Amino acid sequence: MCGIVGYVGDNNVYDILIKGLHRLEYRGYDSAGIALANPSGKINIYKSQGKVSNLEDFCKDKNLEAKSGIAHTRWATHGEPSDNNAHPHFSEDGNLALVHNGTIENYQVIKDALIEQGCTFQSETDTEVLVQLIEYIKIKNNCNLLDAVREALKQVVGAYAIAVIEKDNPDRIIAARNSSPLAVGIGDNETFLASDATPFIEYTKDAVYLKDGEIAIIEKGEPLKIVTLENKESKVDITTLEMSISQLEKGGYDHFMLKEIFEQPTTLRDCIRGRVINNGCNIMLSGVMDSKEKFLNAKRIVIVACGTSWHAALLGKYLIQDNCKIPVEVEYASEFRYSNPILDERDIVIAISQSGETADTLAAVKIAKDMGAYVYGISNVVGSSIPRETHSGTYIHVGPEIGVASTKAFTGQVMVLTLLSLSIAQIKKTMPYEKICELGKAIIKIPSIVQRVLKLNDKIEKLSMKYTYAKNFLYLGRGYSYPVALEGALKLKEISYIHAEGYPAAEMKHGPIALIDAEMPSVIIAPMDHVYEKIVSNVQQVKARGGSIIAIVNEGDEIISKMADHVLEVPEMPECLTPIITSIPLQLLSYYIAINKGKDVDMPRNLAKSVTVE
Ligand code: F6R
Repeated sequence: MCGIVGYVGDNNVYDILIKGLHRLEYRGYDSAGIALANPSGKINIYKSQGKVSNLEDFCKDKNLEAKSGIAHTRWATHGEPSDNNAHPHFSEDGNLALVHNGTIENYQVIKDALIEQGCTFQSETDTEVLVQLIEYIKIKNNCNLLDAVREALKQVVGAYAIAVIEKDNPDRIIAARNSSPLAVGIGDNETFLASDATPFIEYTKDAVYLKDGEIAIIEKGEPLKIVTLENKESKVDITTLEMSISQLEKGGYDHFMLKEIFEQPTTLRDCIRGRVINNGCNIMLSGVMDSKEKFLNAKRIVIVACGTSWHAALLGKYLIQDNCKIPVEVEYASEFRYSNPILDERDIVIAISQSGETADTLAAVKIAKDMGAYVYGISNVVGSSIPRETHSGTYIHVGPEIGVASTKAFTGQVMVLTLLSLSIAQIKKTMPYEKICELGKAIIKIPSIVQRVLKLNDKIEKLSMKYTYAKNFLYLGRGYSYPVALEGALKLKEISYIHAEGYPAAEMKHGPIALIDAEMPSVIIAPMDHVYEKIVSNVQQVKARGGSIIAIVNEGDEIISKMADHVLEVPEMPECLTPIITSIPLQLLSYYIAINKGKDVDMPRNLAKSVTVE
């Protein structure tokens, strides 16, 4: 999704902005642009469709002299990806340049009114409407830029993070947010602005996350000032970042996705650290302890999420129902928000989001809060919007996930949901102490078991060659392996562009079985659990129709192994802990198939890491 970078200071801004844009590439984009506030009183804008490297090529012979500026990666919402629609956008007289992340819902009404006043437009974007509106107000009211921005934002309906610079004031950026993220990095005599902290982490660890309705005034030689739309001064709340620059680099791997798959023993260890104590017999999530009464009295839990996080949510349902005996419903956040949900103060809503910024999930959180439900967040990005909006919650602590396809965040989310269910089970006494100890001990072993599973890498790489040109895939699982099948299918389709469907294995005979033939491989997730025997008959049904089978089974499996064309063996685990283990081979399979097809696995087409628009 769109990314914003800004800088005011004493250094060459071009290099800082370009490096920052590269750091934000993981969010997904289709064009990039830069506005440099030249000290001679001119703003130079350079834009290019495609990669940030295209923009760099375009800028080679341009005037890049400037000490402040703003830059942007665009993910098209209004108007096709093109040089023209790329940001920054100039105001009509070239006095202002603006970048924007989000969508202005009433842009057409504003545009029509501005056209009536004689304004002309160069692009199809809602963003250009905003910069023209700011300029129009500035001239009409004869006011300064800050007042014009405040006034314009009061007229705007929608989500935005914006940054504006002005020709006559080259050392100042005015930035504002509503529902789209924006962080300010405070350095020594220099200030940074970005959609998240990754572009400035190598320069400063002091960050300020803007809140909805806040405007930051970033000016050279001045301390950061934040005001509201009503011009009331807000507190500048500085957070010390824990992220390091090495976490943002590939560390010898060809792709971030592969690095992140291989990081999972470490990330899972980090996720468990301090939460599974007393040799596995005490499982403590501070978020649950803080909300003990709420969890003890909850009549229902509703989990909201999107995409991969929704698959983790489905696993959360199995975990919480099995371990805590509380009824759980799982909803796509995008459906939940428009479904007239019925909630009250005895409901707990859990919102799961890696980025903590997904617009639909954030909207669901706000609705749930307004209806009186207690809202618990599970997120990865410290300081992001969802953790700030929720009553309490848990971070998954897996470090920055750069690859667009979620891998380590998924296993981190499932791990936190497992710990959450056991933590609640402990306080509600819905599980015998011995059972909690048994699971706690097994959880402690998960990082080393994942390490073992990763040894399947070479076998999976070889196997992937056979299936690189398959046109369709079916992923089948039952019980805890059903959400794993959904996640395996999503992973394959998003990075290899092969059509793949995940299904509950028994449901296959009600329709998808018609698709099975020698051309249609099925990936069957069948660890030794209480539905193992049931899935054996599903495997027979696929075999009988000539379909080839890749089976994920436990070491020593004797039945499905004999029926499958390819077998990937993983160690046996207690049933509720199998998803973390069985999802690893599926991540690797998708990765290698996509690589064989020459696809850009870290930045798949049309996808964004952080979906901050509806
Ligand atoms: C898939 C993927 C997406 C995200 C979804 C929600 O690999 O990454 O499906 O899971 O966009 O994102 P978050 O978890 O940031 O809310």
